[in-house]
Amino acid sequence: MKTSCDLTGRRALITGASRGIGRAVAELLADHGARVAVHYGADEQAAAHVLQGLSGEGHAMLTADLGDPVAAGDLAGRAAKELGGLDVVVNNAGIFVTHDIASLDHENWRKFWDRTIAVNLNGPAHLLHGAIPLLDAAGGGHIINVTSRGAYRGEPEAPAYGASKAGLNSLSQSLAVALAPRNIKVVGLAPGWVLTDMTRDYLEGPGGKAIRDQSPMKRTATADEIAHVVLMVVSGQADALSGAIIDINCASHLR
Ligand SMILES: NC(=O)c1ccc[n+]([C@@H]2O[C@H](COP(=O)([O-])OP(=O)(O)OC[C@H]3O[C@@H](n4cnc5c(N)ncnc54)[C@H](OP(=O)(O)O)[C@@H]3O)[C@@H](O)[C@H]2O)c1
Repeated sequence: MKTSCDLTGRRALITGASRGIGRAVAELLADHGARVAVHYGADEQAAAHVLQGLSGEGHAMLTADLGDPVAAGDLAGRAAKELGGLDVVVNNAGIFVTHDIASLDHENWRKFWDRTIAVNLNGPAHLLHGAIPLLDAAGGGHIINVTSRGAYRGEPEAPAYGASKAGLNSLSQSLAVALAPRNIKVVGLAPGWVLTDMTRDYLEGPGGKAIRDQSPMKRTATADEIAHVVLMVVSGQADALSGAIIDINCASHLR
């Protein structure tokens, strides 16, 4: 359904769009007229399925391991080549890896930290290095970085994850200030729990009720709700949001 939010002519790169939140974002932006580059990591079949189901025409599909700085740095340019330019970047792809703290040997400690920071923080930073000149060439645009409630609340079972998302919040705010003169708006979205493949085992397992009870609404957010916040940001109708980190967590953690 079209609303006043018409994204016709806008070109959007969504990372991690093969499933979960990224898929919901890709579908909603396409529903509103945007042309979308569906980025994925390993699951080509899932990404092809998403691409096939998108409303409208002129979409593209691209893979890159965001843990590889060169591949991440090239991704925006490749997307712009497919779409004929770039107006929107949604840094959504991410990994959530739990690891022991007290008894982990240093080799494994480094493995968890290096991979998580590489994919969740360095990947978006390298991608944006390539994207900023393209957004500039388009006369401005929107960058949305999907972070996490864990950046504020702590992630005692996944400290590298929490740190990566806190870093991504900080990057979002630095860029919002630095890029404002170029008409590039930058927002961080910090979801709490959302039912996706990343969290299914937790939310559908024996601890699921306790997680939902963290919220006075007794539920978690949906991927579609996150996508609607992205839509609001890229609509251009709320650009004063630039520099904000938007919490989307069913009031489960207020700061
Ligand atoms: N779900 C939640 O409760 C929750 C809460 C707070 C924040 N978040 C954040 O929201 C974002 C999306 O989460 P989600 O729950 O939708 O996750 P998901 O269902 O696990 O999907 C992750 C997506 O990221 C891609 N990806 C993973 N590692 C990659 C890599 N190294 N290179 C390129 N792509 C890679 C995957 O691609 P392939 O499948 O093709 O490999 C997939 O499309 C993440 O940044 C996550 O941290 C999620």
